[in-house]
Amino acid sequence: MPERKKISFALLGFGKLGQGFYKAWMAKKEKIKDQTGFDLVLQKILVKNGNFKRPHNVDKNLFTTDIKDILKTPGLKVAIDAIGNIEPTFSIIKKLISKKINIISANRVLLATKMHEISDLANKNQIHFLTEPSLGGGIPVSVTLQRDLIANKITELRGIVSGVSNFLLSEMTEKEISLQEVLKSREVPKMAESISIVDYEGSDAAMKVAILAATAFGVDISYLRIYAEGVSNVTLQDIKWAGQFGYEIKLLAIMRDHDDCFEARVHPTLVPKKHAMVSVKGKYNAYYIKTDLLGEYMVYGLGVGTNPTSSLILRDLVELGNRIYNNPRRQRFQFNWNDKRVLDIEEIKTAYYLRFPCIDRPGVMGEVTTIIGTHKINILSAHAEVGKYNGETVGYVHIFLGKTFEREINEALDSIKKLQLIQGDIKIFRILDDE
Ligand SMILES: NC(=O)c1ccc[n+]([C@@H]2O[C@H](COP(=O)([O-])OP(=O)(O)OC[C@H]3O[C@@H](n4cnc5c(N)ncnc54)[C@H](OP(=O)(O)O)[C@@H]3O)[C@@H](O)[C@H]2O)c1
Repeated sequence: MPERKKISFALLGFGKLGQGFYKAWMAKKEKIKDQTGFDLVLQKILVKNGNFKRPHNVDKNLFTTDIKDILKTPGLKVAIDAIGNIEPTFSIIKKLISKKINIISANRVLLATKMHEISDLANKNQIHFLTEPSLGGGIPVSVTLQRDLIANKITELRGIVSGVSNFLLSEMTEKEISLQEVLKSREVPKMAESISIVDYEGSDAAMKVAILAATAFGVDISYLRIYAEGVSNVTLQDIKWAGQFGYEIKLLAIMRDHDDCFEARVHPTLVPKKHAMVSVKGKYNAYYIKTDLLGEYMVYGLGVGTNPTSSLILRDLVELGNRIYNNPRRQRFQFNWNDKRVLDIEEIKTAYYLRFPCIDRPGVMGEVTTIIGTHKINILSAHAEVGKYNGETVGYVHIFLGKTFEREINEALDSIKKLQLIQGDIKIFRILDDE
């Protein structure tokens, strides 16, 4: 049996993740001790409300509401941030780092805004700062980027980064039911984190994009500046029509290094049905990574839940054990910070699908496509069919456009609107463009 070494740690937060992690740690700590020699010892749990009832099987002496109790714990090596919010957590993390306590963070919103500051502080204090559990789920992607792909230049990272959104879209597609129907499923509240509830508008996914942009590309961008759309506007009709034209709708995060600038966005995207991303169903996430040396690489796994996240936190505790006992100075990941300009959504170039209901009369399609032509946008295909909109007979126009700057699409749409043919909402989806 390997020599035992003690890793004393504190858990910050005992909510959904904190309690899930506690159970996983209890179930696995002996196995980890036998296999690695590291004795993972929980010293304290920081919570907000001293008068909340805590599970009876957890030693009540572990709980504290005062960070000073943690800062003065002798021999404490690691703190796991499972709190959430920016403040007071950021101040708490800074105090822990200045006491040379290593950090494992699952705190998405904090990292999606303060990753650069925290990593600089961690380097200054020569402690380790591990961030992968913040992505939710259990897929090793940060570690893959930081270790296995260290010699590579990452040129593109695309992903299905929200297990909840992927579940919602998969259920709508497979069961042919509306978003409202899927939301009635008992699975939804079980999956969603207490803090993010359900991310309809894409901000939770944008936080993951911010963390990945920092990790893979060294781009320091707050999630609030990342273009994000969630699944709230995707209708069953959109899914059915996408299917009819050979596509499935997926919430895709897309990051690309353009040498002199950087592209980052997350939105519902039309993905060809034969594409590998379409096979990622339900609560699963996947990351597709393109690099100069390795070429193309994909990781896939469960994207939600406290068990997959706890799997990463336990791995990180062992990893820190290795670093602390075997290699205290080296192996600290240095982010490749740069100040690349992040493109505005109007500056991105991709393919598009447009759909709108029009007055049902001959010649409409010609008028619309002529306008698009005058904007020098390449039409890949155009289809029209008669349908109903609010009880009225209308002509539905479906147009697929080749790679175009989003600004040009918006200008063409402004001109089309002036024709006063449109009878309802214009739906516009970006199409996955494999470069
Ligand atoms: N849930 C997941 O599966 C999951 C997965 C990956 C990452 N995360 C991340 O983990 C974090 C926690 O998520 P959660 O779902 O576990 O949230 P949660 O259920 O709301 O739990 C939050 C915990 O933090 C404690 N807390 C809040 N403010 C505090 C403060 N000022 N000082 C000390 N403790 C404080 C709360 O204490 P009380 O108990 O006293 O209220 C509670 O125990 C978030 O950043 C989330 O993004 C969660």
